Amino acid sequence: MAQYSRISGSVGLITLKSPPVNALSAVVRQGIVDTVEKALSDPKVKSVVICGQNGIFCGGADIKEFAGNMSGPPLVPIIHAIEAANKPMVAAIEGIALGGGLELALGCHYRVAHAKARLGLPEVTLGLLPAAGGSQRLPRLIGVPAALDLITTGRHVTAAEALQLGIVDQVTDHKTVDVAVKLALSVAGKPLDARRISTYLCPPLSALDPLFEEVMQKVRQRARGAIAPIACVQAVRAAAALPYAQGMEREKELMATLFTSGQARALQYSFFAQRAVSKWSTPSGARWDTSTPRPVHKVAVIGLGTMGRGIAVALAQAGLSVVTVEPQEKQLMEAKQAVSGMLERGAKKRGVAPPLNNITYNSNIQAVADVDLVIEAVFEDMALKKKVFQQLSVVCKPGTFLCTNTSALDVDQLASQTRTPELVVGMHFFAPANVMKLLEVVYGPRSSPQALATAMQLGKKIGKVSVAVGNCRGFVGNRMLKPYIEQAFFLLEEGATPELVDRALEEFGFSMGIFKVSDLSGLDVGWRVRKGDGLAEPRATGQSARIREGRRYSPLGDLLCEQGRFGQKTGRGWYQYSKPGGREPSSDPWFHSFLKEYRAKHGLVPRAIDHQEVLERCLYALINEGFRILEDGIAAGPEDIDVIYLFGYGWPSYRGGPMFYAGMVGLPKVLDRLEHYYQAHPDVPYLQPCTLLRRLVASGSPPVHKWREVIKKLHSQL
Ligand code: NAI
Repeated sequence: MAQYSRISGSVGLITLKSPPVNALSAVVRQGIVDTVEKALSDPKVKSVVICGQNGIFCGGADIKEFAGNMSGPPLVPIIHAIEAANKPMVAAIEGIALGGGLELALGCHYRVAHAKARLGLPEVTLGLLPAAGGSQRLPRLIGVPAALDLITTGRHVTAAEALQLGIVDQVTDHKTVDVAVKLALSVAGKPLDARRISTYLCPPLSALDPLFEEVMQKVRQRARGAIAPIACVQAVRAAAALPYAQGMEREKELMATLFTSGQARALQYSFFAQRAVSKWSTPSGARWDTSTPRPVHKVAVIGLGTMGRGIAVALAQAGLSVVTVEPQEKQLMEAKQAVSGMLERGAKKRGVAPPLNNITYNSNIQAVADVDLVIEAVFEDMALKKKVFQQLSVVCKPGTFLCTNTSALDVDQLASQTRTPELVVGMHFFAPANVMKLLEVVYGPRSSPQALATAMQLGKKIGKVSVAVGNCRGFVGNRMLKPYIEQAFFLLEEGATPELVDRALEEFGFSMGIFKVSDLSGLDVGWRVRKGDGLAEPRATGQSARIREGRRYSPLGDLLCEQGRFGQKTGRGWYQYSKPGGREPSSDPWFHSFLKEYRAKHGLVPRAIDHQEVLERCLYALINEGFRILEDGIAAGPEDIDVIYLFGYGWPSYRGGPMFYAGMVGLPKVLDRLEHYYQAHPDVPYLQPCTLLRRLVASGSPPVHKWREVIKKLHSQL
């Protein structure tokens, strides 16, 4: 709702009231209509200030309303009425003015922002565009290039930047409403024609067409298949080329296309999924709202390799006190230098002092005696990790939480090395750990709800999207990756090339195809795991070379590793690079003739493989494993899996995550294609459709938010 009062004799004050962010729900919009009418019809009122309660101006549209039929007055005429008012309207912006919130402010004749406020038009991140005149007013106010930047990226700006760009008229450190009221008093009765942004022409640009062509090309490249950024460019182009009223028509048309698109639905789903995962629960009944985390102030990081360094940086940047341990002197010195550099660069970007003093560097594990929580990040070697956990159990003060960053190993085995298995959980970060948003928090059968709650809270504190997952090989993300990679290998055997597979996946929206990713992260990583599992030893030629434990197996990755082809680091992998450490992959004739020979040796006759088969085999195998994970109770719901894939594995956000995507494709189709491929490859168990998928299809393929009910029923029958 919106509240109305008259202050300082002649200023009408409209306060938006709808916690937590004063979103523009139907009642708030109706409230604005009523209060504006009141203010304009009250002869004592000479000017009006619009603000939001609790230090927040307005967070924009109420996204929950998008799912149903919109009711209440639409926003566009409300903003028009505000702009057309014959009394000065002043927006007092505190906290945030985002999306519709900023559009409302742009309809006002003046804008005052608090120094700590943030402003932006983030609609593009939800698959939409600013369709309450934002795409038409902002370029008229601040010029086409700056408006394109804000609208196509959705980035938020600080009040200082907003002032510099001309979005606001004034920035204050004091009470924003007081300053806005003062301004409202001073402009009462003054002419308003020059303050109505819709009457402006966009600041002229000499070469409009080439500018838009260049921007469109850049945006297309960056968008990788997302349609909203393209529509945003088209809307701003309309603002530059057309009179306001026609521009608004174009804005409306473009929005209608976006609003009904699957992409907007996917992005809005992921917005809510991100929030849903913080409300975690486990099969044993532990829950986010009944478990109390313990405060964590001091954290130890054991092992300062690739991961340990990033983790230490993320912790220090969040203001935690960090004790690091790295036994090798040379590695310790190098790590210190690298970590300090990362902290300095990060601080420079954010305009703050680098938190160098938050970290101490040690070679002796005794240094961790008084920390509240430990994150172990030594080599992926069970024997070594077990030893470290035994030491930690002795050295740490009672009650210290012991966490491991293992990518796949059994968290419970590590817990059993300690005297307090209930305090052990996994905290699985993603590289680079100070940048990647995802954190899988892995609970073992003996992890206490408090340990899980504490790790989840720490994840939040350091800015991660944390997802609670059960303990199994590879947890959620890496477990699903296995069938995906396996299919990619099989496709090479059957006739595809790394280039073809990668192109199909990149056209789908991944920033890199699987073979490029494999070259980047190193083929030796998977090789070591397969060797550890006894899979990678060279076999005799013939059929057995391609079978392990009765299942189809591709030794292609192992064969490349035996040749020393580890990917970028050796300058050769699935592709070739100009030098070891090179980044630009190019097609490698050696690999192509090797593949030919390999196929001939194993009697494999190559056939034509198209993009559709690549996508179906790789993605449906991955999705099928996702269903198994739900069936096993390793992830609580499809949202957990989707958030993991969106934030940790580069799944294109406008496709909502693998489980949402399966729903969009249609579960019957996914099931049908898996059945088809399983028939063709009966020695590939990952292609066998799992029970939950069959059950969902049998229950009429309910929408993704209803899957939990079917999962629950399935669990109760097991
Ligand atoms: P790394 O090889 O870069 O670093 C491991 C570090 O541990 C080295 O600096 C080594 O000197 C140190 N170390 C060995 N024994 C130690 C001991 N007893 N005490 C203290 N430090 C010791 O390895 P990386 O890549 O950082 O991986 C660490 C862990 O993180 C592994 O469990 C790995 O599976 C996991 N992980 C790795 C990811 C990656 O992308 N590299 C992603 C997510 C998890």
